[in-house]
Amino acid sequence: MKSRMLITGATSGIGAALAARYAGRADLLLAGRRPYEEVAATLPADAHYVVADQSEPERAAAQIGKALADLGWETLDVVVLNAGTGWSGDPATEPAASIRNTLDANLFAAVTLAHALAALLEGGQLVLVGSTARRGAPRFASYAAAKAGLDGLARALSEEWRGKVRVKIVHPGPTATGMHAKAGFHTGRARALFAPPEMMARLIERAIARRRIRRTISFPQYLAAAVTPWRR
Ligand SMILES: NC(=O)c1ccc[n+]([C@@H]2O[C@H](COP(=O)([O-])OP(=O)(O)OC[C@H]3O[C@@H](n4cnc5c(N)ncnc54)[C@H](OP(=O)(O)O)[C@@H]3O)[C@@H](O)[C@H]2O)c1
Repeated sequence: MKSRMLITGATSGIGAALAARYAGRADLLLAGRRPYEEVAATLPADAHYVVADQSEPERAAAQIGKALADLGWETLDVVVLNAGTGWSGDPATEPAASIRNTLDANLFAAVTLAHALAALLEGGQLVLVGSTARRGAPRFASYAAAKAGLDGLARALSEEWRGKVRVKIVHPGPTATGMHAKAGFHTGRARALFAPPEMMARLIERAIARRRIRRTISFPQYLAAAVTPWRR
């Protein structure tokens, strides 16, 4: 039997590349904020899709819960909470609505979803997509704060769910997706050094396949990625 997998933020970038990697090998429920008609062409043909805008975390969790119930899925083998968004600029000028959206979509939604999916995940694994920005990133203050929060969430859940759900967090480095432009950040020539999203998807798949990873794994800087289920 194929494993059952939920990937959020599967409509572009790393999430879309990850969905493409697992297409045909896993039963996929993919989540995104846009209507199905808008994203259908980018999704694997046999994947299920649910609209869940994480800027409204509780509603998104309810929508994903309903989609799982409609599919009759009572268990999940892997959940990848990958959806992410940011705002770039001088932190002092970031509008309150943007701060709220960044924290809601990246962090609050992940906490809400992780808690809502815990029962279905017994025996499976939860993979959070963090960022190297969690240590601080110029012009991405609230995004960096949200990703640092995700790191804390992963550490906490790893302890809470020990023996029940394996919790991992992957921290990609700069990746050539549309995220920076959506955040209003111009990457300029540095973008040539960014990892392709397909490479990040491959690294995430590798992290999923490993049973236990006890230490941070670093890749060459231009692919800067770290995988930490736990680092004490
Ligand atoms: N790119 C990088 O350099 C980099 C580095 C470190 C970590 N990351 C992390 O990697 C993950 C994937 O990002 P990416 O680079 O692949 O960017 P991306 O191409 O913009 O993909 C982000 C995904 O999240 C979705 N999303 C954004 N806001 C959402 C919301 N409110 N509700 C539901 N879904 C939402 C996007 O939907 P749409 O397709 O509709 O936009 C898209 O599917 C994110 O968690 C990001 O923080 C990225």
